[in-house]
Amino acid sequence: MDIERIHFQQHGDHGGQLVSLEEERNVPFEIRRVYYIFATQPKVHRGRHAHRHLRQLAVAVRGSVTILLDDGTGPVEVVLNDPSQGLLLGDMVWRELYDFSDDCVLMVLADQFYDPADYITDYDEFLREANGYRRVEGAVA
Ligand code: TYD
Repeated sequence: MDIERIHFQQHGDHGGQLVSLEEERNVPFEIRRVYYIFATQPKVHRGRHAHRHLRQLAVAVRGSVTILLDDGTGPVEVVLNDPSQGLLLGDMVWRELYDFSDDCVLMVLADQFYDPADYITDYDEFLREANGYRRVEGAVA
């Protein structure tokens, strides 16, 4: 699957670094929600779900985390460890988050409000829906 990273412009000087995130400018969607994950326990795995209709942009503003992404064609691992980079997460992508550094703060911008009904938490159900989804998108015969 394609991994979409966004490299943000850094405004740096002797005083430090600054990154600005703006809706429909360097963030390619309407920002309805921002949440962040921090104080993760050692060896914890988070995520393990997909969303039917949700675009998100994840930024490790501090520390590092590994994110496994799978659109139904197989897993790809991405390490996020740079506050000037974001990872785009689209519809119908299974994700798992692990190997959080102790200091990791993972900020996520989302284009929809929190909706528990949008989660797919069963991997087999995800595969069934993802295969149908890719057929509709024309990605598979
Ligand atoms: P969850 O999405 O399961 O986190 P993860 O996939 O990283 O393990 O959310 C954890 C808890 O936080 C769950 O009780 C739902 C709640 N939550 C909200 O209330 N609002 C949100 O925007 C999110 C993402 C989660």
